[in-house]
Amino acid sequence: MVAVSLSRALLLAGAFARLGLAQTEPTILAEDGSVLTANETTVAPAAEPLEDAADEVLLLTDAVLANLTALDLSGIDLFSFDEDVAGITGVPNVTTKRSSRGFQVGDCKVFPGDRAWPSRLSWTVFNLLTGGALIETVPIGAVCYPNSGVYNAAKCQYVLANWAQSALHASDPTSVMSPLYQGETCMPQNGQSGTCEMGSFPSYSVKIRNVYQVQLAVNFARNQNLRLVVHNTGHDFLGKSTGAGALSIWTHNLKDIKYIASFRSPSYNGPALKLGAGVQVGELYTTANRLGVTAVGGECAGVGVAGGYLAGGGHSPLSSKYGLGSDQVLSIDVVLPNGRFVTATESKNADLFWALRGGGGGTFGVVTSITVKVYPKQKLAGFSMSLNAGPDSENSLAVFWQAMYAYWRRFPDYAAKGAYGYSMIFPLFTAAGGYNWAFHPFMMPDMTLVQFKAEVQPLLDEWTALGLNFTPNFFEEDNLYDVWTQHFPVESVANSNMRTASRMFPASVWDNTTNRDALFDEVRAIVEEGSALIQYNMNPRQTAGTPNSAANSHWRDAVWFAIMGSGWAPGTAEPELAATHNKITHDWMERLRAWGPGGYGNEGDVMEPNFGEAFFGSNYQRLLNIKREVDPNDLFWAPTAVGAERWTIQGQPSWLTTQVGKLCKISN
Ligand SMILES: Cc1cc2nc3c(=O)[nH]c(=O)nc-3n(C[C@H](O)[C@H](O)[C@H](O)COP(=O)(O)OP(=O)(O)OC[C@H]3O[C@@H](n4cnc5c(N)ncnc54)[C@H](O)[C@@H]3O)c2cc1C
Ligand SMILES: *[C@@H]1O[C@H](CO)[C@@H](O)[C@H](O)[C@H]1NC(C)=O
Ligand SMILES: *[C@@H]1O[C@H](CO)[C@@H](O)[C@H](O)[C@H]1NC(C)=O
Ligand SMILES: *[C@@H]1O[C@H](CO)[C@@H](O)[C@H](O)[C@H]1NC(C)=O
Ligand SMILES: *[C@@H]1O[C@H](CO)[C@@H](O)[C@H](O)[C@H]1NC(C)=O
Repeated sequence: MVAVSLSRALLLAGAFARLGLAQTEPTILAEDGSVLTANETTVAPAAEPLEDAADEVLLLTDAVLANLTALDLSGIDLFSFDEDVAGITGVPNVTTKRSSRGFQVGDCKVFPGDRAWPSRLSWTVFNLLTGGALIETVPIGAVCYPNSGVYNAAKCQYVLANWAQSALHASDPTSVMSPLYQGETCMPQNGQSGTCEMGSFPSYSVKIRNVYQVQLAVNFARNQNLRLVVHNTGHDFLGKSTGAGALSIWTHNLKDIKYIASFRSPSYNGPALKLGAGVQVGELYTTANRLGVTAVGGECAGVGVAGGYLAGGGHSPLSSKYGLGSDQVLSIDVVLPNGRFVTATESKNADLFWALRGGGGGTFGVVTSITVKVYPKQKLAGFSMSLNAGPDSENSLAVFWQAMYAYWRRFPDYAAKGAYGYSMIFPLFTAAGGYNWAFHPFMMPDMTLVQFKAEVQPLLDEWTALGLNFTPNFFEEDNLYDVWTQHFPVESVANSNMRTASRMFPASVWDNTTNRDALFDEVRAIVEEGSALIQYNMNPRQTAGTPNSAANSHWRDAVWFAIMGSGWAPGTAEPELAATHNKITHDWMERLRAWGPGGYGNEGDVMEPNFGEAFFGSNYQRLLNIKREVDPNDLFWAPTAVGAERWTIQGQPSWLTTQVGKLCKISN
C-alpha cells in the first residue's frame, strides 16, 4: 500500500539526509536515497486488507508499520502497538508488565498547550496515515458567532432552526445532545453576545470509515498520553461522548448492514444482522422491515444501536419478550486499547464478549461492528393516549393520581405479559398548573387488539369507575416497524436547562402492599415537588438460552424503569443552581434508592453515588477486573464508566461533572 518502495541499503544514506532538514513537514526516503515530502501522493493510508474477510476490513498491521518505518516516515513510532498489553487473550499478566507510560496519581492526560502536546508535524503525519480523516474541531454553534472566523448567517439559521432535532447533532463530528456537560460554551443561541469557546469539545476527531483509522487513533492517543473519547451520535445523557482536549473517534459513518441468513453459535442458530458501529435505530428498523424480520432496538430513531445503546444494555419496546438489546448480540468486532483488532463471541475472547454486552460504552475499546439476532415479524396491539389533569383540565388531580395508581399497581402483571408501557408525566406550564400524562404507547407484542383489550379491560373499567376522562387510541399492527413509525414520539433533544436521573424497581416491591404503596406515595410526592416522570413498564428479563452478560443485574427483575428530573430557568446562578442539582441526586433519588437501588447508566445521573453498584449491579467487580486487564493505563475513560473512579476532571463544581477541564488521575 505504500506508494514509494525502496531498498534497505539506502536507508542509512536517507537517515543522514534527514538530519539536515528542519522537521516542519513530514518526510520519507525515496528509493534513490533522497528525502521526499510525505504527503497524500507519496504515502498511502496505513492499511492492508484483512485476508479472508467477507467485508472490506482494512487494518493497521505490523507489516504496514514496518514498511513505513523502512521508509523512515517522520514520527512513525507514534503509531506503534502496545506490546505490553496483549488484551484479554495472549498475555494476561499485565500487572507485571505495566508500561512506563503509566500515569502516576496527580498526572493529567496531555492537554492543548502542554509541552507534551503533539506537534503540528505529528498531527500532519496522523492525518496522512488516516487518509485525510482528521478533523480539527469547529463547535457546531461557531457559525452563529460573528467573531469566530466561521460566521455564516444562513448556516446559523439552520442550526438554530434544527437545534432540537437529533439528526443535526448526529451528523456533526462533535456536537452533543446534552449541552450541560459540554459547558454550554458555544451555544448558537448566544452567538450575538458572547465568544465561542471549546469547553468540553475534543480538539480533534477522526472520521472513521474503516478499522485501521480506529487503530491509528488508539495507538496515537495512547503513545502520546492524550485523552481519548469515542463519539457516535452524541445522544449520551451524561457527557460520555465528549471531553476537553481529547482526540475523538467518530464512528457515525460506519453504516454497513448485512443480513446473515444463518448464524451459528453455541446458543443460537438463526438469522442475524451485522451492523456497523454507526448504524442508528431508524436504519436498523427500516432494514429489518425490508428484510421481513424484527430487530430489537430502542424507541428513538437517532440513537446509535451498535454504539452506546448495545454497550450499555439497551431497553426496547420488545424487552419484556426478548430481553435487553445487549442480549441479542452474537459477535462483536472491537479495537482494543493496545491497538489490536479482535472479534469477541461466546467462544472467542469470552470475557470481553461478556463485558461488551452491557458493561458500557467507551470503556474496553472501540466497537466497529456487532452482529445481532433477528426474529420473525409479529403482530402488536396497544393504545396511545394523552390527557391533562389539574384545576383547568378535564381531570382533577385527585382522579389523575388514583388512575395512575390503578395502572401502576398492575405493573408486575403487565410486564409478565410482555408489555411495554411507555408513558410520561410532565408538569403543565400554565398558570393553573397540573400535569400532562401521555402514553407513547402502552402495548403488548404478539397480540391481536382483541387479546390486548381483554388484558387491559379491568384497568379501563377502573378508570371509568373513577371518573377519568380518557380516550385511548387503540391500534393493531402487523409488525414493530408500523407501530414504531405510527405510534411512537419524535423526541426533541439538546435542551440545556435540564438534568435527569433514573431508577429501576424490582417486581418484589409489589409483593408487600404496604411497601408498594409507600413507594407510590414517595414518587407522587417527588412529582408534586416538580419532577417529570418518564416511565417504562417492562421487564428486560434474561430469556432462556441467552448467554450471561455484564448488563446491569438490576434490570433483570425490574418491572418499572423511571427517569426523573427537573429543569431550571435560564441564567439561574449558584447557589440556587447547585441546590437544584443536588436535590435531584441527593434528595429525590435518595428517597427512592431503598426500593430501586439500580439506575440505568445510559439514561442515568452523572453524579450517581456508588455508580458501580447502581449501573452495573453484581457485575461491577468482574467488569473492573477485565478493565484492568485490557486497559491497565485507562486509555479509555468516561464519567461513570467502569473504572472511572481513578480519575477526575479538574475545576468542576461539586454538584456536576462536566467534561470541561483536564482529566487527572486521583488514585491507583
Ligand atoms: C432521545 C433519546 C432516546 C433514547 N431512547 C432510548 C431507548 O429507547 N432505549 C435505550 O436503552 N436507550 C435510549 N436512549 C439512551 C441511549 O441508549 C444512550 O444515550 C446511548 O449511549 C446512545 O449511544 P450513541 O452511540 O448513540 O451515543 P454517543 O453519545 O455517541 O455515545 C454514547 C456512549 O457510547 C460510547 N460509544 C459510542 N460508540 C462506541 C463504539 N463504537 N465503541 C465503544 N464505545 C462507543 C461513547 O463513548 C459514549 O460513552 C435514548 C437517548 C435519547 C437522547
Ligand atoms: C510493503 O512494501 C512492499 C514494497 O513496496 C509492498 O510490496 C507491500 O505490499 C507492502 N506491504 C504492506 C502491508 O503495505
Ligand atoms: C507531495 O510530495 C512530492 C514529493 O516531494 C511532490 O512532488 C508533490 O508535489 C507533493 N504533492 C502534493 C499534493 O503536495
Ligand atoms: C502474574 O502476576 C502475578 C501477580 O503479580 C505473579 O505472582 C505471577 O508470578 C505472574 N505470572 C507470570 C507467569 O508472570
Ligand atoms: C411490608 O413492608 C413493610 C414496610 O417496609 C414492613 O414493615 C412489613 O414488615 C412488610 N410486611 C411483610 C409481610 O413482609
